Amino acid sequence: MSELGKFWERASQIVNDTLDELIPSEEEEPKRLHAAIRWSVFAGGKRFRPTLVLAVGHVFGVEEKKLLRTAAAVEMIHTYSLIHDDLPAMDNDQVRRGRATCHVKFDEATAILAGDRLQVLAFEAIADDESLSYETRTKLIAELAKSAAQMANGQQMDLEAEGKRISLEELEKIHRNKTGAMISFSARAGAIIANASEQELKAITEYASNLGLLFQITDDLLDVTQTSENLGKTAGKDLVAEKATYPMFYGIDGALESAKQVHRESISALKKISKDTCLLVEIADFVLTRKK
Ligand code: IPE
Ligand code: IPE
Ligand code: MG
Ligand code: MG
Ligand code: MG
Repeated sequence: MSELGKFWERASQIVNDTLDELIPSEEEEPKRLHAAIRWSVFAGGKRFRPTLVLAVGHVFGVEEKKLLRTAAAVEMIHTYSLIHDDLPAMDNDQVRRGRATCHVKFDEATAILAGDRLQVLAFEAIADDESLSYETRTKLIAELAKSAAQMANGQQMDLEAEGKRISLEELEKIHRNKTGAMISFSARAGAIIANASEQELKAITEYASNLGLLFQITDDLLDVTQTSENLGKTAGKDLVAEKATYPMFYGIDGALESAKQVHRESISALKKISKDTCLLVEIADFVLTRKK
């Protein structure tokens, strides 16, 4: 297994343990709500964002335990965004992470509330993180709030763009907001917890902002090149919903060229950091070449 493969496997494990500790059990009332949250969180997502938090923290040599709650918090916000993204009023999807979407398995009201609960649970996880100073917690909470706001803004722009002709600038803006913001937060959070210098934080921000855009370009590509079975979500749905995507704009080959360009920009920012950033390069390579 590659260095990243091993790192990722362990990261997923400890993040899952942390999520399990932080999320109320299915035995706690209201049981149906907690069951719905757990249904979506433990459905087997890639854990890309929490792994990024841990990887950046690792590069800057910070103790792992200081990163765990923030990593779990990112996954909570992400899972909330997926639950709401799948609702009939948004993308209207039936399958997510290889199983029925939250509103299909439970019901719409429960799915809305599961998202709401996950969102606040994420902030609580950081606010109560005793391994971090109050100053660091406040910084992280403020950044997470801004990034989650950008995500919701991006989701609104994505829905408003359905069936419309928009410019490339607008498309990039949608992607940077709906997906890029939470990925940028993940990388920046690792650097903030590690007390990285201003210059290092700037380089990580440049790396992550391109990585976030790249992640959505490849998500758009996977929608048209992979099977539903492989993705664990319905493939080909962007075309049906007339979503604004990179393949719609450039075709598959053109979208792949854009992805390669954004990937180059992402890893070139890492040259400004005088640490071993191999793991972060491998993460960018994964995002470019991923099959799911
Ligand atoms: C899917 O994210 C939604 C996007 C922002 C593109 P992921 O591809 O990370 O989904 P999971 O977490 O592995 O299910
Ligand atoms: C979703 O983008 C981005 C989010 C913030 C959840 P998509 O709508 O393309 O994600 P998938 O393809 O349903 O996972
Ligand atoms: Mg969507
Ligand atoms: Mg969707
Ligand atoms: Mg998609």
